[in-house]
Amino acid sequence: MSRARTFWAPGRVNLIGEHTDYSGGLVLPVALDLGITLRVTGIGGPSRVTSPDGDAQRYADAVAAELAARGVSVPHLEATVSSNLPIGAGLSSSAALGIAVAYALTTLSCHPLGALELAEVVQLAERRATGVPCGIMDQAASILGQPGHAVLLDTGSLEWELVRLPADHAIVVVDSGVRHSLEHSAYATRRAELERGLEGASDPVARRRVRHVRSENERVREVVDLLRSTPLDTRRLGEIFRQAHESLRVDFEVSTPALDELVDLAYGLGASAARMTGAGFGGSIVALVPVERAPRFTTEIVGAYSGAGKARVATAAGGVCEL
Ligand code: GLA
Repeated sequence: MSRARTFWAPGRVNLIGEHTDYSGGLVLPVALDLGITLRVTGIGGPSRVTSPDGDAQRYADAVAAELAARGVSVPHLEATVSSNLPIGAGLSSSAALGIAVAYALTTLSCHPLGALELAEVVQLAERRATGVPCGIMDQAASILGQPGHAVLLDTGSLEWELVRLPADHAIVVVDSGVRHSLEHSAYATRRAELERGLEGASDPVARRRVRHVRSENERVREVVDLLRSTPLDTRRLGEIFRQAHESLRVDFEVSTPALDELVDLAYGLGASAARMTGAGFGGSIVALVPVERAPRFTTEIVGAYSGAGKARVATAAGGVCEL
């Protein structure tokens, strides 16, 4: 390679449709203006992908192995990773890393893949690297995102469309500061419990997991309808996000006291809608806040929260690209 080439992939925040992407349900994520930068300085030698936390090599190897398993022969990368995504905050830093690597590898080897095929490669690579049986939402968002839009993805048919975000609302992400690692969480257990329920088990746990997913899919549909109608019915939007949070807390049991506190604070401080986002067990909440309130909201929620939180206004960005 005569010159370094740089690739970028965004993290994501999910507006609604949580724990639905491994049973063919609906999701509505937004790609963020925060992400992973991969600077490739060489190809052909031994693979060496370095990152501040030292984890990138494992993901890069898993992506290369997954591409090889599909018959795509890719070069070894010599690259460095930098990131402005908080790690473990539930904003999909690992999916963004995987997408950046997969996009770089397929671009440099002149073997481009379709968006959802690329997403699937990275989803499987993440399972290979971490053992977490994740769905396809995070990877798809990191590819399909568009400025000013959320991505409505049907994870069953893999059909997707863009949904314009309301211009008069800011997306605020509040990190609870409670770190989670999906590998050590109950993610796989939740998935197994849901699958048991979908196969007809009628014990209370399985029934509650299924009830969450069925009601959540309905909520995604209703939120998309609301976002597409003017004026935006903020009262109804707030109710649905509240119900979504309660369903994750009570029926899916993935919220935490810190996330519950932040959601209550968000409504009290003028958010139109708020709920936990991502896998749960820690991480962040997402809030839709009237634009003019957003700067004060970010300061006030951090001040009122009993933990060490961070709030930022997020901008919906485009998907993976070469810079
Ligand atoms: C994690 C997984 C996703 C999805 C969410 C929960 O982010 O990687 O596939 O299951 O949790 O909605």
